Amino acid sequence: MKSNYLILLVIFLLISCKETSLKNIDKKEVIAKKVDSILSLMTLKEKIGQMNQYNGSWDVTGPPTDTTSINKVKHLEQGLVGAMLNVKGVKNVSAAQKIVVEKSRLGIPLIFGFDVIHGYKTISPIPLAEAASWDLKAIKRSAEVAAKEAAASGINWTFAPMVDISRDARWGRVMEGAGEDPFLGSKIAYARVKGFQGEDLSKENTIAACAKHFAGYGYPEAGKEYNTVSVGVSTLYNTILPPFKATVDADVKTFMNAFNELNGIPATGNKFLQRTVLKGDWNFKGFVVSDWGSIMELQHHGYAKDNKQAGEIAINAGVDMDMESYAYIDHLETLVKEGKVKESLINDAVRRILTVKYELGLFDNPYKYCDEKREQQIVNSKEINDAVLDMAKKSIVLLKNESINNKKLLPLKKQNQKIAIIGALANDDDSMLGNWRIGADNHTAVTVLEGLKKYKGNKITYEKGADVALGKTFFYYDTKINTTDKSGFSSAINSAKNADVVIMVLGEHGFQSGEGRSRTNLDIPGVQLDLLKQIYKVNKKIVLVLTNGRPLTINWSKEHIPAILDVWQLGTQAGNAIAQVLYGDYNPSGKLPMTFPRNVGQIPMYYSHKFTGRPTPLPDPAMVFWSKYTDVESSPLYPFGYGLSYTSFKYENLKLSTSKIKKEGEIKVSVAVTNTGNFDGEEVVQLYIQDIIGSLTRPVRELKGFEKIKLNVGETKTVSFTINADLLQFYTANNTWQVEAGDFNLWVGTDSNASLKATFKVVE
Ligand code: BGC
Repeated sequence: MKSNYLILLVIFLLISCKETSLKNIDKKEVIAKKVDSILSLMTLKEKIGQMNQYNGSWDVTGPPTDTTSINKVKHLEQGLVGAMLNVKGVKNVSAAQKIVVEKSRLGIPLIFGFDVIHGYKTISPIPLAEAASWDLKAIKRSAEVAAKEAAASGINWTFAPMVDISRDARWGRVMEGAGEDPFLGSKIAYARVKGFQGEDLSKENTIAACAKHFAGYGYPEAGKEYNTVSVGVSTLYNTILPPFKATVDADVKTFMNAFNELNGIPATGNKFLQRTVLKGDWNFKGFVVSDWGSIMELQHHGYAKDNKQAGEIAINAGVDMDMESYAYIDHLETLVKEGKVKESLINDAVRRILTVKYELGLFDNPYKYCDEKREQQIVNSKEINDAVLDMAKKSIVLLKNESINNKKLLPLKKQNQKIAIIGALANDDDSMLGNWRIGADNHTAVTVLEGLKKYKGNKITYEKGADVALGKTFFYYDTKINTTDKSGFSSAINSAKNADVVIMVLGEHGFQSGEGRSRTNLDIPGVQLDLLKQIYKVNKKIVLVLTNGRPLTINWSKEHIPAILDVWQLGTQAGNAIAQVLYGDYNPSGKLPMTFPRNVGQIPMYYSHKFTGRPTPLPDPAMVFWSKYTDVESSPLYPFGYGLSYTSFKYENLKLSTSKIKKEGEIKVSVAVTNTGNFDGEEVVQLYIQDIIGSLTRPVRELKGFEKIKLNVGETKTVSFTINADLLQFYTANNTWQVEAGDFNLWVGTDSNASLKATFKVVE
């Protein structure tokens, strides 16, 4: 151990002794003092080292696996690395930590980041699926157990939640967000941060969260990955930024910027976003990490002539940590010496990074997250799997359940049924893990077939019928994707002929959505739809179990198939969750967090669109000159907020405490909801508002409240909402958040087509 490390230790001890007398002083001030004392010991080079993050894929005995000319181990020893990513497992994390703690001059511990996006080793539903639960408690719990499992494995920082609003299902990363709506997105963003970080970040089972991708990444032109983003001020403030602001309100510790440009300025080099809005207006005190190589990519954008200038632009724009661009480690020192970057900016960045390390408790114990016994006990434990199963059940959306001969197919009867299960995805233990599962072992999901086999009363047969995609991996496209092989059709058709019910599991493979997986065609891929049509010819009693990472265009299925269950990619416990829902042991309660379009040409499609000057319909719908398509209806296939239950709900008695308020006033809204069907069930009661006239045109309606309630058969509950300035304000033509006086419409109901209506007025 070097002598300065000892000096550092003495300083810590002195400060710690003083801590009792500082009891009344804010914990934050204590940390700030500690951070300043370390900062005063650091050379410029060491400071820059803290701003440098390397990929690990760490092997205990060997160096990191990627091939660059930089000797990363040397850099660790020299204190020139502040963070690593993709180092998995306690053994490997400890090994890397040991190098910096024991060999570097100051021994400042590393922070270990990882994409814990929907679970770590035990995989939870993809985030879009979780959003479909509209269950904030369950979503928070899901993040909490993911943090616990990752922390037990040495990780202390997740690159989640992704809070990008997106209205374009062509974009593959919609699977990773909370869908199209800023209100729902903000609530979920807040819940996820609280779940990951808990109330006390220094506990061994909580980890730092990271709001990403700041900002606009979900609005790429034509839905093409990494593509140009051009949005106006109103869309930026009213739609894109609110979920990010919600994470700041939840005290998120880090932000990640984005690959895209925003109105001509790449997000990574965007001072307005990172310094003016985030660190200025929102007073964000954590640190900003670049996206992978996004500083270096400023050159590709045509915004920097070389990596050195890219580094200069990034630090000046507010990027505190460089993930894998080598711009900071290679050039920042020179840039400071040349006077192009102020050392105060470096100090500010390092202060932010060290503060998070302190808050995580890494200075007290750099190996805090490195207990192999805990790792064994927690990773893959029953506790984590139970939480993941609970989340998976709640994420399923029942899209259709119509009667055939006066009988509904779902829930399935538990006895004496011949059930034909068809589809490659029914017997796939990998696809359901979805896209972001780098911490998991492949092929570890419970298949639908396995889940259904646990119910012993029925006779089950299985036929693959057709493949969905072959040889899928995280990094590469599969050239054989969407195979045209129909050789399995005939045995599948035979198995369906005499079945009481056919369950067809069709859709996208887990690697058909996610980063780099934009699609221009949103139909069920390959020959799966053909297979469905062939089976339908011999047996109409089909339940379509649709698995997908994004809204799909399932028009034919909606028209013909009596029962459709959207199960997304549900993670490790997928098969169990799906079986429990199919058999009615859990009554589906999910609601779509994204509109399902009728065809790709309607995209971007979202419920909170504007009226236009020629809204539908003018008095004569056959007339040409109004805002519509000539070849397809303007309405979606399934609207935002839509989802059925095995039971039914009645809404009545909508009451407002007053119909006129001042701008800062409050209205209590109440509505009675009754379970009128034959099953106990849950309903997401949704509140929408329309601000009729504005200084900027306003959406036709906007979600402003929701509550998920449980109702037993026959039970009635009164659900209340409070409308206040927080809900009524928007970013107006004056470029400020304001409530504007005027008339409002309000609706309460089961989805974004809610029709139970009231009106109120806001006065000066
Ligand atoms: C993604 C980020 C992710 C990072 C590190 C990038 O390609 O855009 O969301 O956190 O890689 O894995």
